[in-house]
Amino acid sequence: MENSVIIILLFFSCYQHTQQLIPLPDFIHPCSELNDECFTQATLDAIPGVVRGIPEAGIPPLDPLYLDKNITMALPGNVKMTFHNGKLLGLSTCVPSKVSSRREKRTFVFDIQCNFTIKGHYSIVGRILLFNLNTDGNAKIKIWNQKIHLEVLEKVVKNDKGEGHYKINSYKYKADYGTDLKLNLTNLFRGSPEISANILSVLNSNSQLVAQEFGGPILDYAIDYAMNVTQKFFDAYTYDQISHVPLTDDFFEED
Ligand SMILES: *[C@@H]1O[C@H](CO)[C@@H](O)[C@H](O)[C@H]1NC(C)=O
Ligand SMILES: *[C@@H]1O[C@H](CO)[C@@H](O)[C@H](O)[C@H]1NC(C)=O
Ligand SMILES: *[C@@H]1O[C@H](CO)[C@@H](O)[C@H](O)[C@H]1NC(C)=O
Ligand SMILES: *[C@@H]1O[C@H](CO)[C@@H](O)[C@H](O)[C@H]1NC(C)=O
Repeated sequence: MENSVIIILLFFSCYQHTQQLIPLPDFIHPCSELNDECFTQATLDAIPGVVRGIPEAGIPPLDPLYLDKNITMALPGNVKMTFHNGKLLGLSTCVPSKVSSRREKRTFVFDIQCNFTIKGHYSIVGRILLFNLNTDGNAKIKIWNQKIHLEVLEKVVKNDKGEGHYKINSYKYKADYGTDLKLNLTNLFRGSPEISANILSVLNSNSQLVAQEFGGPILDYAIDYAMNVTQKFFDAYTYDQISHVPLTDDFFEED
């Protein structure tokens, strides 16, 4: 009698245990080997679905991504520009060219390219060409083929139920700001479309600088946000759900 109670309890706890796992979305394709091709393909398969959001894992839609901070930048010649109410479109266009695991260093390395459009409201104060500007309007910047090299250091931590979960320790990234970029600002020089166009072309001829000053903080934000989302994903799904590569015992760290 006692035995059967224990068996029933055991059964229940196992049952509840499996019940609590959130089913893995069908666009997540776990790899069985540490193989660049598999990781690259799996990342390619995962991006559109993750970017649409996974409500059961607490992941909101990511395209567009709304920026909840203001960006201020200094451009040459004492020009100050601020950008607010911004949103970043294009995370769904990101395509990995290579994803690899350096397990001995607990590191995943992503090389990714994206096409981004950044929209928002700008204000500008300063002098460009011969004109004093003190104006504001809508800003739109298009960046083609933004290359991102991202290294994520992570470990697997066992929770009190004995399930392993990835935990991101740290990350760093490098972005290659190409020149494939176009900035458009409305209402730059009130009353003269020609002067506005001239000023714009001056800004666009400094596209590298604009990309860095403007795109840099936005990319910092977007990647930090994406890393937070990735951690949420790792918290929602166990290591065994998202990876079929066996872990050796020394890989685990107790939480
Ligand atoms: C961002 O800038 C706008 C317009 O200048 C301002 O109204 C808002 O308070 C600023 N927000 C923050 C968080 O600084
Ligand atoms: C970016 O846009 C260009 C031009 O439309 C296209 O050829 C390229 O494949 C796109 N790249 C990505 C990563 O979406
Ligand atoms: C900037 O945007 C305005 C409004 O959308 C458009 O009329 C104009 O042609 C654009 N200018 C450039 C240089 O793309
Ligand atoms: C990411 O999460 C950290 C810690 O919760 C938080 O401080 C930070 O603001 C988040 N980043 C973004 C871009 O939301």
